[in-house]
Amino acid sequence: MVNLQFSPLDQEGLSQQLRLWLPSNLREKEFNLEHDFGWVARLDSETLGFCWGSEYRYRGKKRSFLNWVHVQDSYRCNEVATELIRRTEKDALDRGHIQISASVEQSHHKPATFRILQRNGWEQPYLFSYCYRMTITGFFENAPWAHPVREYPYQKYIFPWAELSAKERKSLEDEEGPDSWKEDFSQVSPLTFNLNFEPHTSLGMRIYNQVVAWNINQMYGVDALLYGAFFVRKQYRRSGLAIPLLLESFTRQRALGIPDCIWFTHEANKGAILLYDKMFSSCLLSRTPVYQAAKQLLQKSI
Ligand SMILES: CC(C)(COP(=O)(O)OP(=O)(O)OC[C@H]1O[C@@H](n2cnc3c(N)ncnc32)[C@H](O)[C@@H]1OP(=O)(O)O)[C@@H](O)C(=O)NCCC(=O)NCCS
Repeated sequence: MVNLQFSPLDQEGLSQQLRLWLPSNLREKEFNLEHDFGWVARLDSETLGFCWGSEYRYRGKKRSFLNWVHVQDSYRCNEVATELIRRTEKDALDRGHIQISASVEQSHHKPATFRILQRNGWEQPYLFSYCYRMTITGFFENAPWAHPVREYPYQKYIFPWAELSAKERKSLEDEEGPDSWKEDFSQVSPLTFNLNFEPHTSLGMRIYNQVVAWNINQMYGVDALLYGAFFVRKQYRRSGLAIPLLLESFTRQRALGIPDCIWFTHEANKGAILLYDKMFSSCLLSRTPVYQAAKQLLQKSI
């Protein structure tokens, strides 16, 4: 394609047309020139595709995450995506990032995506988690044990996560040792969304003034609630806390009119996978593998 041109992605570049090519959870995501970057491919006046990366910090180092890459159907297999990603990687390197990574959900695009990453020298992607999806009405219609709404023991311990005190937050942040949530490597941090959690459905449980369980959520696009961090401390497991906690969030989600539920579970978290497969077998829309891929970026010596 002789007239193929690449230009950097910016706020204006991420036009409505490009946003339509994004999955629903990213459509409303803000593009901020400070953290976001990428490339657009055009042929004459036609936009063929684009790639969008974002900067984040982990363990004190800057890294980038590839949010999305898309190429129009009719222009696929012309190495357009390969070039878009190559340029985005170069930007990440120039910004001093030590790594670029991406998540790839199982779909018919997975083989092409793996092929492009391999060609660009990424490490072999590996199975990282499973993505579960269901609708909230599907859940209440098909999970008879959740009906009718009834009192569960321990419901009285539930509190809105928004009421977590600064002292409790600090103590969750600092806690160490065998009973800490940090010991369980497959767990998502209760502080992962910081203060940007969905306030009505994110809940904790307090027993004897200790925060012993939580279920913390965030909006995922406009129609879905992402169940982000769901945890019961080891000494309180198998005592019936988890179900009332989840049910309370589901009930509140239904009252808010958010139709879809989505959550990711680490592939090594066998206990949670067994529980979810059992609890939601009658109402799941899908359970798809999600792969993680990364490339370490060589930094120029200073
Ligand atoms: C994935 C996507 C970006 C690829 O764009 P593209 O411009 O066609 O990519 P490229 O031409 O650079 O490379 C595609 C490679 O995948 C290969 N490929 C395509 N379909 C394949 C399949 N089913 N099995 C194996 N390889 C496949 C192509 O043969 C090509 O490799 P080759 O050049 O060695 O033959 C495009 O299909 C797309 O926009 N999909 C929808 C959005 C999406 O799913 N994005 C991924 C988000 S993680």
